[in-house]
Amino acid sequence: MHTISIDTESKSYKVHVGSFIYEPALALYEKQIKHADHVVIFVDEAVANLHLDKLLKPLQSFLDTSVHICRLPAGESSKSMETFMACQSFLLEKGCTRKSILFAFGGGACGDVVGFVASTFMRGIPFIQLPTTILAHDSAVGGKTAVNHPQGKNMIGSFYQPEAVIFDISTLATLPNQQVLSGMAEVIKHALISDKNWLEDLLSYQSLENISEEQKLSFLVKGIQVKADIVKADEFEQSVRKYLNLGHTYGHAIEASVGYGNITHGESVAIGLVISLQLSEKLMSLKEGTAKKLFNALNAFGYSFEPVLKQEIDQLIPYMKRDKKASFGDLHFVLLEQIGKPCMKIVPVEEVVRAHEQLRKWSKEVHK
Ligand SMILES: NC(=O)c1ccc[n+]([C@@H]2O[C@H](COP(=O)([O-])OP(=O)(O)OC[C@H]3O[C@@H](n4cnc5c(N)ncnc54)[C@H](O)[C@@H]3O)[C@@H](O)[C@H]2O)c1
Ligand SMILES: [Zn+2]
Repeated sequence: MHTISIDTESKSYKVHVGSFIYEPALALYEKQIKHADHVVIFVDEAVANLHLDKLLKPLQSFLDTSVHICRLPAGESSKSMETFMACQSFLLEKGCTRKSILFAFGGGACGDVVGFVASTFMRGIPFIQLPTTILAHDSAVGGKTAVNHPQGKNMIGSFYQPEAVIFDISTLATLPNQQVLSGMAEVIKHALISDKNWLEDLLSYQSLENISEEQKLSFLVKGIQVKADIVKADEFEQSVRKYLNLGHTYGHAIEASVGYGNITHGESVAIGLVISLQLSEKLMSLKEGTAKKLFNALNAFGYSFEPVLKQEIDQLIPYMKRDKKASFGDLHFVLLEQIGKPCMKIVPVEEVVRAHEQLRKWSKEVHK
């Protein structure tokens, strides 16, 4: 079991990563869990059907009281005010107090909504993240919680750190391929902003299926370490935490214009990563050919660039201007001076248009 320390201004805690680790990792928190007056597991419905037993056995082995289980709608649909209220009602009905402890058992969506519930129930109670997707190596760490508003994703939320993160990667075996692609895009992002050799290693695989369990574990640990270092330096996204948005300005625009649910977050980010490298070649000193190399590797992994052919740039620009990083209508991008050296840059609209057109040309060759 690998353990990574997360030290933020507001809290320090550990992320435990490995295969079949619920028993040893939960044992580390036995005292705290036993001390709670109620133990509540909020679980993504799909994850409950596949993996709940794995968690319940070790938990019940040291608990005298029963565990309350509350199933949440699977995936993104749980990130709503309705689910948030339903969770609060569940806690009140069970008689939970500030001495209770919550578990968020599922992907990033479950972690985000349950984190928000934990941060607000009785003004904040402890919770433990139990991520079950590759993407959640990112979302479960760092303390961002949120639900969606009809007018925008993640519009309501808080910064609230968990007591611990226990990431049992044996749960990843049941992930659908699209979710593997989604999560791996954030892993590739972490490599791009931190380490040239790691990136080369990652992109040298011919397909994602060729990555062994052991390699996957090492990539996830590396990704978490990148996030840990950034969150330590800037918990509340005043400076370097913005670098984690590499690929997200254009990616979010693709995600919103294609329509949430039709494309995953990471698949959109993967497209955005290529755009950000194209811009970095043009506006920074990133070595020419890096964007094309990434494009080719992502194609080989199975990412689709068809959305770039379908979406007109005029549809995308308004979304980019509404991005949380935007100010006064300027387009703010995270770019790379070189692999491992991110920076923030205001990018003229015409440069984004040019990158979009170029990516369309590359995509046409692949999708003809
Ligand atoms: N808080 C943060 O810092 C942060 C960072 C990045 C993303 N996010 C958020 O994370 C969310 C995306 O998270 P996600 O990609 O994990 O998606 P998700 O939680 O929506 O899960 C994706 C799908 O996979 C299913 N699933 C989950 N685990 C499974 C498993 N082990 N086996 C089979 N199916 C499983 C879910 O039921 C769902 O249908 C978005 O809402 C995004 O905004 C948050
Ligand atoms: Zn992301």
